Amino acid sequence: MAKIIVEKSGPLHGEVVISGAKNAVLPIMAATLLSEETCEIKSVPALKDVEIMCQIIEALGAKVEKDLANNRVNITARGIETTEAPQELVTRMRASILAMGPLLARFGSATIHLPGGCAIGERPTELHIKGLRALGATVEVDTVNDVITARANRLYGNTIYLDFPSVGATENIIMAATLAEGTTIIENAAQEPEITDMANFLNKMGARIKGAGTDTVRIIGVESLHGARHNVIPDRIEAGTFMVAAAITHGAVLVKNVLPDHIKPIIAKLRECGAEVIPVDEGLVVQATDRRLTSTDIKTLPYPGFPTDMQAIFMALLTTVDGASAVIETVFENRYMHVPELKKMGASIKTDDRCALVTGNARLKGSKVQATDLRAGAAMVLAGLVADGRTEVTNIYHIQRGYERFVEKMQGLGAKIHMEE
Ligand code: EPZ
Repeated sequence: MAKIIVEKSGPLHGEVVISGAKNAVLPIMAATLLSEETCEIKSVPALKDVEIMCQIIEALGAKVEKDLANNRVNITARGIETTEAPQELVTRMRASILAMGPLLARFGSATIHLPGGCAIGERPTELHIKGLRALGATVEVDTVNDVITARANRLYGNTIYLDFPSVGATENIIMAATLAEGTTIIENAAQEPEITDMANFLNKMGARIKGAGTDTVRIIGVESLHGARHNVIPDRIEAGTFMVAAAITHGAVLVKNVLPDHIKPIIAKLRECGAEVIPVDEGLVVQATDRRLTSTDIKTLPYPGFPTDMQAIFMALLTTVDGASAVIETVFENRYMHVPELKKMGASIKTDDRCALVTGNARLKGSKVQATDLRAGAAMVLAGLVADGRTEVTNIYHIQRGYERFVEKMQGLGAKIHMEE
């Protein structure tokens, strides 16, 4: 079983280039199913999840030209032979559900096996179903076999209120609404930048979407969509990960290919801890050399709040700073699976439901720990950078799902880190 070995590394220095955003490229790849023409996508991160999405789209009958070494994927969804995504692939990646909206809109049917819960929560889909039903689809949920089947001769625009600003539900409904008859309005929509990136791509395909990135999105349906070219936005969570790596090691790192507007909460919280974050032409410099870092409190919220995907990563930093920090996780009901792993390393953290109290100044010691989800895996590596001795991180396929060349990029900053089979 492959594992990542991390030794105490001293301050990180140098520069790192951020890859394309995983959570933008997955919905964008799904959106290519809405047209029979070729879509050319660039800045595609070479990730396991991207490869799975390529396999799903290919299994449906589309032509996929994958060139991940050059971060490019071309998709031509002509000759789709089935609207049922293959179960063995879908159950490996929750984002497969994003194929439902496009398949339903273009072909009038979609069958997706439910991936089920995962380490961070039960991951329900009732908001996706509520949205597609509001557009006129008949949606059946087979809870015995965990399959969702949607059918619709035609989709019709409607106004849909999301009880929670679900990222995936917002994306699925937008994609389905692009080919519906009439206008759809999504209220209390998720506002993540990855949704805006997907909407920009869809508008290049001829869709008529306004308000993406706000809590109210308006989609005027069109007859069909054509091919398009698109560059995926940088991954704000990968950027945040390397910024925290610079802070926890008291180093100085230039993070390139980053959009500061997308990571305001991360910048604010790093500054509250006492790190310097300096905007420069090529990106951001995080400077924490010889700086005593202090505690701050974190409350995760839907965008533009502090991102839940950064909670574990930031918690690793908070175990090492002066003072105690309060963390509240409001987005997922079970996103503290990394806490026992950090405590194995000597961290002092108390959790109660969605709250965690992190005592600072922990002298972390190298240990055998596991990645419980992809962001928690990154958190364990960051803790290993400052822990005395050797840390072994297992279950690293989580990390490979969401970070392109993670070990290599860390090595480029001076981290003592390598992979072992
Ligand atoms: C997306 O997941 C991301 N994944 C997640 O990133 C991210 O953590 C999450 O958004 C929140 O930002 C992708 O974009 C591929 P949600 P998604 O639907 O769409 C509840 C990573 O690390 N909910 O916004 O599944 C749900 O239970 C991954 O890259 C419902 O109640 O997230 C959760 O508590 C992890 N009913 C909350 O909303 C629904 O029908 C947020 O879920 C759907 C969701």
